[in-house]
Amino acid sequence: TEFITVSDLADLMGVKSNDVITTCMSLGMMVSINQRLDAATIELVAEEYGYDVEFVDAEEMIEDEIEVEEDDPEDLEPRSPIITVMGHVDHGKTSLLDYIRKAKVAAGEAGGITQHVGAYEVETDSGKKITFLDTPGHEAFTAMRSRGAQATDIVILVVAADDAVMPQTIEAINHSKAAGVPMVVAINKMDKAGANPDKIKSQLSEHGVIVEEYGGKNQVAEVSAHTGEGIDELLEKVLIEAELMELQANPDRLAQGIVLESRIDKGKGTVANILIQNGTLKVGDPFVAGPVFGRVRAMENEHGERLEAAGPSTPIQLTGFDDTPQAGDRLIVPKEEKAAKEIANQRQQIRREQSLRQTKHLTLDDLSRRM
Ligand code: GTP
Ligand code: MG
Repeated sequence: TEFITVSDLADLMGVKSNDVITTCMSLGMMVSINQRLDAATIELVAEEYGYDVEFVDAEEMIEDEIEVEEDDPEDLEPRSPIITVMGHVDHGKTSLLDYIRKAKVAAGEAGGITQHVGAYEVETDSGKKITFLDTPGHEAFTAMRSRGAQATDIVILVVAADDAVMPQTIEAINHSKAAGVPMVVAINKMDKAGANPDKIKSQLSEHGVIVEEYGGKNQVAEVSAHTGEGIDELLEKVLIEAELMELQANPDRLAQGIVLESRIDKGKGTVANILIQNGTLKVGDPFVAGPVFGRVRAMENEHGERLEAAGPSTPIQLTGFDDTPQAGDRLIVPKEEKAAKEIANQRQQIRREQSLRQTKHLTLDDLSRRM
C-alpha cells in the first residue's frame, strides 16, 4: 500500500520536497514530488531526518465505541446523488453551478474566489433531485477538496477549454481517484474564442482520465456556463452515471452525516453546514460531530427555510452545538443522549493525545496498519 506523497512527507517533517527527493535518490529511488510512498520508504526517509514513524489508524481510533449498525437491505430506498464540482481556480465551477441553479453565487464572492464548500440541492426538469457540492479551486484549499471528494458519489471535473490541465486539475483527479469516485469531465468556457477541447482531452489522458471517444470510461460534456450550451447533456451524463450506482439509503434510521464547514455566528453560536448521508436528522436529536456534543436546535436548507427533519443526501445548516466541530468531522446520532456525550468526551481525549504525540513523532493518519 502507498500512503502519503513526497511533498506531504516533506511538509510533515518541515523540510523541502526537493530534499526528500534527494534523500530518496541517495537511497536508490527516483521519485517525483507527487508520488506516493510505501510504508518502508516513508520509514527509511524519515529516519534520515531523525524521525521515527508511527502508523495510526485514525479512523479506528476515532470510531471507538460507536456501533453503526448495518442497514437491512429491505429498509433501503433510492437516494439522490451527491455530486462534487472540482477543478482549477477560475475554470468556472461556481458559474456552472450558478447556471444549473439559475442563481448568482459567483458574482457575490470576494474576488470571485470560492473559499468554502457550498452545498445545493437542485431539481432537474425531469423531477430528479441532485445535491451539488462546490469546492474552491485555489491552491490553498487542498483539504476542502479532499473532503469534497470523500463525501461525494461522483465528481464533475471542470476544465476551462481556453486554458489547460492545471495543477489543481491534477490534484482533483488524484483526490477523486483516492476516494474511488467516478469522474465526469465538463470542458467549460466553450463560448470563448480560444476554446480547444481536443487539447484538454489529450492532456487529461496523460493523467489517466480517458474520455469515451478515446476509448476510456470517463464521460465528457463540452459546456459553457455563460451560454448554457451542453449543460443539459452534462446533467444527463451525470444522472446516467448515478443510476448505474443504484444509490440507496435508509431514511428510517438515526442520522449520519459529515461536517462540510463550520463557523461561529454571534447570535446563533456554532453554525455548521452538514450533509446528511444516511438516516434522518430531526429537531431535538442529540448528536456528536467529531469531538463535539450537540442537540439539534434548528435546521435550515440553503434557502434559509426551516426544516423539521432532513433525510439522506440533504445539505443543511445546523445549530445546537456545544462547541465548534471541524470540516470533515462525522456526525452521528446515537441511540441515547448519554452515549453521545461519552463519545464526544472520548474523542476529545483521543484528539488531545494525538496532538501531543504529533510533537514527538510523525503520526500518519488514516493508515490501514498500526505499529
Ligand atoms: P474558484 O472557485 O475560485 O476556484 O473559481 P471557479 O472555478 O468557481 O470559477 P468562477 O465560476 O468563479 O469563474 C471564474 C471566471 O470565469 C468568472 O469571471 C466567470 O464569469 C468566468 N467564466 C466561468 N464560466 C465561463 C464560461 O463558460 N464562459 C466564459 N466566457 N466565462 C466563464
Ligand atoms: Mg468557485
